[in-house]
Amino acid sequence: MNLTGRNFLTLIDYTPLEIEYLLNLSKDLKLKKKNNIPHEYLKGKNIVLLFEKTSTRTRCAFEVAGSDLGMGVTYLDPGSSQMGKKESIEDTAKVLGRMYDGIEYRGFDQSIVEDLAKNAGVPVWNGLTTEFHPTQMLADILTVQENFGTLKGIKLVFMGDARNNVANSLMIVCAKMGMNFVACAPKSLWPTLDLYIKAKEIAASTGASINFTEDVYEATRNADVIYTDVWVSMGEPAEVWEERIKLLNKYQVNISVMNNANPNAIFLHCLPSFHDLKTSIGKEIYNKFGLKEMEVTDEVFNSSKSKVFDQAENRLHTIKAVMYATMKENNE
Ligand code: CP
Ligand code: NVA
Repeated sequence: MNLTGRNFLTLIDYTPLEIEYLLNLSKDLKLKKKNNIPHEYLKGKNIVLLFEKTSTRTRCAFEVAGSDLGMGVTYLDPGSSQMGKKESIEDTAKVLGRMYDGIEYRGFDQSIVEDLAKNAGVPVWNGLTTEFHPTQMLADILTVQENFGTLKGIKLVFMGDARNNVANSLMIVCAKMGMNFVACAPKSLWPTLDLYIKAKEIAASTGASINFTEDVYEATRNADVIYTDVWVSMGEPAEVWEERIKLLNKYQVNISVMNNANPNAIFLHCLPSFHDLKTSIGKEIYNKFGLKEMEVTDEVFNSSKSKVFDQAENRLHTIKAVMYATMKENNE
């Protein structure tokens, strides 16, 4: 398997075998990390992390993974580069490509990360755009594999805003890996027809299934994985909260949802999550709309079924695998 020089923009571009390879590499790197076995395989290389939206997990995973691999890491926050304001994406990519061996981008349109990739001459990794969140997917399916020993035939139900970056990406990764994906959401929040058609095309060759429903009971019956995400994503205006709460209230992951799934079902969430009143936005929503918890109840979030912190840790190992696989010299 040779992924050297490849970009990582969406999993649509990766074959099931390539994804499997990245998962195996992640497991190997996780084992090395746990056993304190040094793996500075990319010593002497440098990467830059461009963030136009905030982050905890993705940024820290890239920083720690970069440092574990022996690389120099530069972080540029939304206000501290010329990109977009004084310099085009194209020019920025050309400059950064002269100095760095890899570029991570988190921000808005998928077209921006594609533009970067077209012009950089070094691997570009998508750390979340409005449309996709591919590095999250590897951590998610690694967590599924760790819990069930397999991916094929696993039923994963996404409840919530099913046309956001995480839901779109889950639909694609499930299609690639022969899983049964269900988007459980009001019709107005289902994935676009274009992406659905793409997922169905992929599913036809892997044995996966792709379904959308508004019926919570129907969707979660026999589910192995119940997954949710925030109801309003970064970059969306605060005004959409009211409508989104109305639309998604009945799609909250609570104990009765978990009890309707398979007995050994697990709960996943990309995080951050509004499951209590310990955040400023959580408090604001409570004051305005009286909701104490949103997409998931605190009870489920803190239950033994919840694997969200394993999932968060797996961001590190999987992002490390993506960087190593795409940056290593051909003869390594
Ligand atoms: N899941 C995720 O991408 O988290 P951050 O926004 O903290 O990076
Ligand atoms: N859908 C969320 C994911 C955060 C990791 C957002 O874009 O804000």
